[in-house]
Amino acid sequence: MQIPVTPEENKKLPPNFIPEIETGLLAKNASISPKFLYDPLGSHLFTAITLLPEYYPTNTEKNIFTEYQDQIINAIGTGVTLIDLGAGNCQKAESFFNSLQPSHYLAIDFSVEYLEDALEKLKGKYPSIQMQCIGMDFSKELIIPNSIAKDKRTFFYPGSSIGNFLSGEALELLRQIKSQANDGGLLIGVDLMKEDSVLIAAYDDPLKVTAAFNLNILRSINSQLGSDFRVEQFRHKVKINHFENRVELYLEALEDLTVNWPGKSRAFQKGELIHTENSHKYTIESIQLLLNQAGFKSTHIWTDPKDYFAVIYAQ
Ligand code: TRP
Repeated sequence: MQIPVTPEENKKLPPNFIPEIETGLLAKNASISPKFLYDPLGSHLFTAITLLPEYYPTNTEKNIFTEYQDQIINAIGTGVTLIDLGAGNCQKAESFFNSLQPSHYLAIDFSVEYLEDALEKLKGKYPSIQMQCIGMDFSKELIIPNSIAKDKRTFFYPGSSIGNFLSGEALELLRQIKSQANDGGLLIGVDLMKEDSVLIAAYDDPLKVTAAFNLNILRSINSQLGSDFRVEQFRHKVKINHFENRVELYLEALEDLTVNWPGKSRAFQKGELIHTENSHKYTIESIQLLLNQAGFKSTHIWTDPKDYFAVIYAQ
């Protein structure tokens, strides 16, 4: 399969997400895939979330990266091909450019428009690094183009996005990463289990930025599907599932309502939920086990003083 890598080719992809969206909306327990959170506005709202004091993952991970930068670079080695999974605004990867000195930087994200802008700015700042971007839904299948050097591939998967997969899916993604990393490795950020109050504040912040981010998925779906969701008929809802070790994010219908789109409709009763995201919280033991099952043999682990978050380099 030929993977497009130039911006022009990216735009030619005919993304038909309608069947997937319909299946989720028409299910008894309705759901919308979290990838639709990251339309252009959603991507900016998520960046705003990462600036909230309550959203500890971003800051904690950043502090670990800063504190242990030397050890991390030592573990990885310089001159690698850095493959950024879910690059977003590319800022996290950029913070490693000076010390890691990658020869190549491949930025991958679902939302390619946002990525292209970010990459354009980076190219001017780091002329010695070859840069490319790809729009790809790697939650389905991860395929690194053959044109990308095979040796010293370092996958970069920060932000605990791995927590957004069910454990079987996470295992499958990690296996695909392992099989394409060759002699390289994976630098991953993983959020750890902690007390409910910290999790609730992080996922339901008092400024309501997270609520806006979650609710925006309805507008994102309206533009994909041609549906008539009205944001004001829903509210952001967070549940902590201790059995599955995860934070669950929903949108709750505030009244009885019907959503229509070309050819179909779905009625929601007051209080009915649409599931939008799971955010699994690991322990050091559970993430190590998963990495081992995926074929990674060794791990270097760095954490913060409160053990809120772990940064792991796996090979
Ligand atoms: N990957 C992020 C996380 O699990 C996404 C996220 C943060 C999110 N806040 C959210 C997703 C609120 C949906 C709703 O932490």
